[in-house]
Amino acid sequence: MNKYFIYTYGCQMNVHESEKLAGMLEGKGLKKAEKVNDADVIVFNTCCIRESAEQKIMGNIGAIKPLKKKNKDIIVAVCGCMSQQTDKPSILRKKFPFINIIFGANNIEFFSDYLDEYNSNKKYLNRVIEGNYQENTTGIPLVRDNKLYAYVNIMYGCNNFCTYCIVPFVRGREVSRSPQAIYTEVKELISKGYKVITLLGQNVNSYGLDNSTGGVLFPKLLDTIAHFDGDFEVRFMTSHPKDISDDLIKVMAQNEKISKSLHLPAQSGSNKILKAMNRNYTVESYLEKINKIRALIPNITLSTDIIVGFPGEGDEEYEATKRLIETVRYHNAFIFMYSPRKGTIAATMENQVSTEEKHKRVNDLLKIEHKISDELFHTMVGSKQRVLVESENNDYFVAKAQCGKVVKIEKDSSINVGQFVTVKIIDYQSGDLIGKI
Ligand code: 5AD
Ligand code: SF4
Repeated sequence: MNKYFIYTYGCQMNVHESEKLAGMLEGKGLKKAEKVNDADVIVFNTCCIRESAEQKIMGNIGAIKPLKKKNKDIIVAVCGCMSQQTDKPSILRKKFPFINIIFGANNIEFFSDYLDEYNSNKKYLNRVIEGNYQENTTGIPLVRDNKLYAYVNIMYGCNNFCTYCIVPFVRGREVSRSPQAIYTEVKELISKGYKVITLLGQNVNSYGLDNSTGGVLFPKLLDTIAHFDGDFEVRFMTSHPKDISDDLIKVMAQNEKISKSLHLPAQSGSNKILKAMNRNYTVESYLEKINKIRALIPNITLSTDIIVGFPGEGDEEYEATKRLIETVRYHNAFIFMYSPRKGTIAATMENQVSTEEKHKRVNDLLKIEHKISDELFHTMVGSKQRVLVESENNDYFVAKAQCGKVVKIEKDSSINVGQFVTVKIIDYQSGDLIGKI
């Protein structure tokens, strides 16, 4: 075993978990392969949030069959959310008998042991374990992909059971990490020069509600981190609108080191659909929270997730979602077509919406959202923005604003890569902001 290649699908949680997988592989002396063809260990860290993700993964696993045929010693491992579904390990193994190791999303930190086990007897290993996320108390090394941005898990799992969502089934119940472990990790990252720390959880606002943190809840955790010494920013995702508290909004408003950008998935603008989704808020209460946030943090940029074509979404409900997008005016919106997931309540609901209608709605909403975000970025021209310089080329520096938007900065000898700078936005051209020191 000399080289490894990891395919990562899905959300930031998976991206971060692949950093753990890479850490364990490098801990065994393996190096990252530039191409999958050069790898001795190939890992698929999978996602199952929508059918389209699963289809893509199936296609990609199938595509490595010829490699495995040429070299039987290659180890193929499949892990993550897709393999965590009850029926999936046997389906995967039947379709792809060349898979050597399958394990779930919740025991990813034990991959090193599974590799040893497989290497000792070369027999197919199924290590999918039901239940909640398990931390490896011996600690695991991590190979972070980026030198400036770092993810830190603060909690695992989800208790919300939105009726469309498979996550609570595959990732188990909420488990919070100890505040001390989080503080230590964040301080170490800051001392190593990481500039943007993103705290990760399926629903970060539930941090500590499992009574495992000695009373430390999310606003307190965030406030403590925002008071650490050093030149850095802290962000978090994802927040459930029902749990955004006044305390959290205050903490965000009061701390310079907390990015002024918030992802707040609305999912729908119709109360009927929100109820059927089990989201536990109404459009009115969602808008009230947005108003509170904007009153205390006027320069906040907002983003959201929207699902179109949830069962029972007729024209009237769809129009309500359109209205919500037009009312809030998000800088960015991720718009998904509802995908029925086996085992969830929504998959068995009547009134499923046709694929054709979902396509129409998604395209329609994307057009509206692009127009709004374009207008919002145009209005940024003339403003000052604090941005992180990520790289440079012959013509300009490439930086990112807190909302993730690319800002191209004219060359200036006072700028270094890896530095926060405040720039004046002088233009908005072909989707990028242009800044000047
Ligand atoms: N179909 C479509 N989109 C989904 N999401 C979650 N489950 C589904 C599903 N079954 C979306 C939600 C969530 C985002 C991560 O993925 O909008 O916020
Ligand atoms: Fe899924 Fe809802 Fe939990 Fe988010 S809050 S992971 S959408 S069940």
